[in-house]
Amino acid sequence: MTDRPPGPKGEPVFGNSRQYSRDALDFVIACERAYGSVAQIDFGPQEVYLLSDPDHIERVLVRDADRYRKPDFQNDALGDLLGEGLLLSEGSTWERQREFATPAFAPDRVGRLDDRILAHADRMLDRWKPGEVRDLEIEMMGVTLRVIADLMLGVQLDDREVETIRESLEPLGARFEPDPVRFALPNWLPTPDGREYREALDTLDGVLDDIVARRRQKGIHGDGAAGEPMDLLAILLRAGERGEQTRGQLRDEMMTMLLAGHDTTALTLTYTWHLLSEHPAVRERLYDDLDDLAAPPSAASVRECPRLERVLNEAMRLYPPVYTLFRSPTEPDAFDGYRIPEDASVMLSQWAVHRSSRHWEAPETFDPDRFRPERRQDRPAFAFFPFGGGPRICIGKHLALLEAKLIVAAVADRYRLESLAPPDPELRPSLTIHPADGLPVRIHERDG
Ligand code: HEM
Repeated sequence: MTDRPPGPKGEPVFGNSRQYSRDALDFVIACERAYGSVAQIDFGPQEVYLLSDPDHIERVLVRDADRYRKPDFQNDALGDLLGEGLLLSEGSTWERQREFATPAFAPDRVGRLDDRILAHADRMLDRWKPGEVRDLEIEMMGVTLRVIADLMLGVQLDDREVETIRESLEPLGARFEPDPVRFALPNWLPTPDGREYREALDTLDGVLDDIVARRRQKGIHGDGAAGEPMDLLAILLRAGERGEQTRGQLRDEMMTMLLAGHDTTALTLTYTWHLLSEHPAVRERLYDDLDDLAAPPSAASVRECPRLERVLNEAMRLYPPVYTLFRSPTEPDAFDGYRIPEDASVMLSQWAVHRSSRHWEAPETFDPDRFRPERRQDRPAFAFFPFGGGPRICIGKHLALLEAKLIVAAVADRYRLESLAPPDPELRPSLTIHPADGLPVRIHERDG
């Protein structure tokens, strides 16, 4: 077996971590281009292997999923935020939590909630005035937060709560921007941003306590048939009454759903609208198809618009909200003859693979038609993996796609958005990829 895969030359002590922190997105693209399917990256104490061959990615996430786990550094970084919620937990805890949560995300339940998603979209659109400039990300975060709180936690958030959550997420997000010095600091060190982080965490915990209190007061009814508790909070509160869920587990799961469930969908919508306004010909074709639907937007009608799904996929290809996954092998593994030690991490980068010319023609071009069936057939399945894959595939995938489709259709019904941002906006990767300076758009009436 060959000993070390190729990789970029690093600096003493820091290895490649300072290069990565300067521009994490360009760095992984350069590694994929220069070294191909397996590259070794040196993050100081962390030994990381970037795997860029879709077949290797599929092996880690799907075929050999039981021989991989989430690396410890993710738990160290995110543990006090997400605790033992679905995103971080492992083994039997993960299995049990996933089993509890699955009915709340079942496609037949989610498909029945279209009118509630559209009501939140309409509420946002009613506030928009033609001629006004608004920030896409703030608007999309607001609507997706309200949707997730309503559909999964059974509460309506007011404006103040949406603002409080948004403000608290700022320092939380900043904490996860790649930074070689912070990587090396212990979590408990009272750095200024550490204090801000703790305060933000306390504020969010307060919002969650309040939601549980309101929900208990209202009664733990679900929205399923015959009063079945079907939303996630109802399921978890009932499990708590049976002694199958502690307060801590309830808190961790609510926090996980609130964060994982809105930011990613909001970013998908944000970049979709940015790309559509930069490509008016694509937007007009989409508007025409949406106008031709036999019925107003609903779960059933948006299903009849394949172009809408292609546009969303292409936006997630170019701007995958989750841009990297990490895993650690539970025993040494090997790819292309290179050995991966047990305590190392493999890095699976949606950003690098989605923009690789090995799998995509003109990868930097926005071309939703590349997702037409005839153009997909020769492409490896894991050349595109915005939702991950295998047993830990995103539990919210169907909900996110339906929600994004309904919100795009609702906006398209009333408005055209003109981007005031540069065509290739600067990006800020933290837990997910955000626009560095917002994405302002001017709102125009549809027929104006
Ligand atoms: C476009 C929107 C979304 C994207 C791109 C996305 C992406 C992802 C990805 C890549 C993973 C896999 C993480 C890994 O393997 O380490 C994941 C997991 C997860 N997502 Fe999403 N997600 C989206 C929407 C949602 C929504 C709407 C929810 C909840 C309401 C959600 C909740 C979760 C949870 C709980 C997990 C962990 C699942 C597990 O490990 O069992 N996501 N998501």
